[in-house]
Amino acid sequence: MKPIQIGLLGIGTVGSGTFNVLKRNQEEIKRRAGRGIEITMVADLDMDRARSLVGPDVNVVNDARAVIANPDIDIVVELIGGYGVAKALVMEAIAAGKHVVTANKALLAVHGTEIFAAASAKGVMVAFEAAVAGGIPIIKALREGLTANSIQWIAGIINGTTNFILSEMRDKGLDFDVVLKEAQRLGYAEADPTFDIEGVDAAHKVTLMSAIAFGIPVQFDKAHVEGITQLSGTDIRYAEQLGYRIKLLGITRRTEAGVELRVHPTLVPSKRLIANVEGAMNAVVVQGDAVGTTLYYGKGAGSEPTASAVIADLVDVTRLHTADPHHRVPHLAFQPDAMSDLQV
Ligand code: HSE
Repeated sequence: MKPIQIGLLGIGTVGSGTFNVLKRNQEEIKRRAGRGIEITMVADLDMDRARSLVGPDVNVVNDARAVIANPDIDIVVELIGGYGVAKALVMEAIAAGKHVVTANKALLAVHGTEIFAAASAKGVMVAFEAAVAGGIPIIKALREGLTANSIQWIAGIINGTTNFILSEMRDKGLDFDVVLKEAQRLGYAEADPTFDIEGVDAAHKVTLMSAIAFGIPVQFDKAHVEGITQLSGTDIRYAEQLGYRIKLLGITRRTEAGVELRVHPTLVPSKRLIANVEGAMNAVVVQGDAVGTTLYYGKGAGSEPTASAVIADLVDVTRLHTADPHHRVPHLAFQPDAMSDLQV
């Protein structure tokens, strides 16, 4: 069977990782997907850089709409980020009958309900494993591995930049600004790091997990969001002396009154596993009624860890598309009675 054809919108940190891992592991990935997966077209404003990354066999363009308009492209991978252009392109790709794989948590947390509805109506998939916790397959864990459970709560370190900053401030006594610059240099931070340090990025991610776990629409606007900018080295040292570590946690919880959705710095007893998650690593704890407590740990950011999640989605979509090109997927499976009872 001919390989499934992928069009990449944006080839930065995650896009280049996706290209490289797909190439390096192409035989194994082909076996698992049941069919080859090939990036045949890339759109990027910096065409010279894109060409130097992908070589002469890939069609490089600077107009993302040329990728969407190409009838040979089966799956569009959106790695542009942000709400503006990315939203228009994702909606156009869906309207053109393309499946979409995206790492764009901001887009889905704010416009997910509209996007998933459009995809369901069109019979295409929007997959977003890479949008939450980078390389940790937490979306698949919630959707598949834990699907038998009534989820009670989820709590996680889901922003690598802020965890890196808190770890370095504690261990090395470095200043906030110095460590933030290092996080940007290492490629952990968002283009606008305000989203990281103000807790917005973590809130986007916990919003998505909450929607899947509790069957509620994506409602980022209802989240309580507090970042780490008010914390000082002194807070971190005092917490340590009292037997705690300060972690920026994303928390979502089922209560009698509705679902809580919040992000804020939290004192975690030092002996807890999650208190010992250091650097840019992420960890998510999920409590289900049948399984009990489960913990997922790994790299939450970076080129190849995030590419690992993008490719997992490409394999999933390839399998489903190959079995039935008009496969209809329940994207979030909302429960209508859960829609209005969300609280912070
Ligand atoms: N800026 C994000 C982080 C990247 O630091 O976790 C991965 O979503």
